[in-house]
Amino acid sequence: MSNDQLAAVFNAGIREFDRLTPQVWGPAGQSLITQLRLRPGDAVLDVCSGAGASALPAAAAVGPTGLVHAVDVADDLLEMGRLVASDRALHNVDFVRADATEWEPPSTVPAAGYDALACSYGIFFLPDTDQSVNRLVRLLRPGGRIGVTVWRRGALTDFARAYADVLARHLTGPAPSRTDASPLSRFDTAAALTDWLTGFGAHSVEVTELSNLLPATPQLAWDLILGGAMRAPLLGLDDDTVESIRRDFLSLLTERDVETLDATTLVGTAVVTG
Ligand SMILES: C[S@@+](CC[C@H](N)C(=O)[O-])C[C@H]1O[C@@H](n2cnc3c(N)ncnc32)[C@H](O)[C@@H]1O
Repeated sequence: MSNDQLAAVFNAGIREFDRLTPQVWGPAGQSLITQLRLRPGDAVLDVCSGAGASALPAAAAVGPTGLVHAVDVADDLLEMGRLVASDRALHNVDFVRADATEWEPPSTVPAAGYDALACSYGIFFLPDTDQSVNRLVRLLRPGGRIGVTVWRRGALTDFARAYADVLARHLTGPAPSRTDASPLSRFDTAAALTDWLTGFGAHSVEVTELSNLLPATPQLAWDLILGGAMRAPLLGLDDDTVESIRRDFLSLLTERDVETLDATTLVGTAVVTG
């Protein structure tokens, strides 16, 4: 997906995205920031920040002497982040519309680079993943930390398969889904994520598993479709078609006894040598 398409998908789903925050984005963002062990005064780059699930806790962790640059392509999510930051009087976080792969640190960032780079549920969207992440890692100072969250292998599998099957019934052409071609399969186990992070010249890799087994209520299941990238195939469809996809999808989850939405997530952090 191009950046414009990603922005259109995530902007369209802000209501559902927001409803997912307490159960999905929020716990992972907080865990990521805890594991990054930020210190007061740190400079943090948070790419694919969305509405700030990790950028807002990062801002609290680094305090008024630190700074957080939260970068995303989806304006409406960024605006949501700005409102929450303002409500919490967090003046040290800037939500900026930019392509993470082209980000240049402004002069407020120490010359040596950022102290930490965070990316929660975002690296699999970046084109040429390794090249993009390599470029971002070079924005860190020697000894800086990188931290990512990704879906653990098997997470949301039954759910995504049911959705793909329903789309195939309703749409012509291949139904987009998470397939083996997705970069996710390269870092969706603890061992694979450890190897992948080590490949960037990192050491002291830590990977923890955040178990997150959510009851598959119709509201949560459909929010997970509309509030994330799985919404993409629905853009441009008329309301009746979307409604009949929703009904068939929820019925298929029931038929297949999908009672739990497994949103289990890996949180990986490492120190970059520089
Ligand atoms: C699943 S959301 C996660 C958002 C946030 N990190 C969170 O956990 O709530 C993925 C985000 O990545 C953003 N994104 C994807 N590619 C991007 C890019 N090249 N530059 C900046 N943001 C990007 C999307 O706009 C979307 O907001």
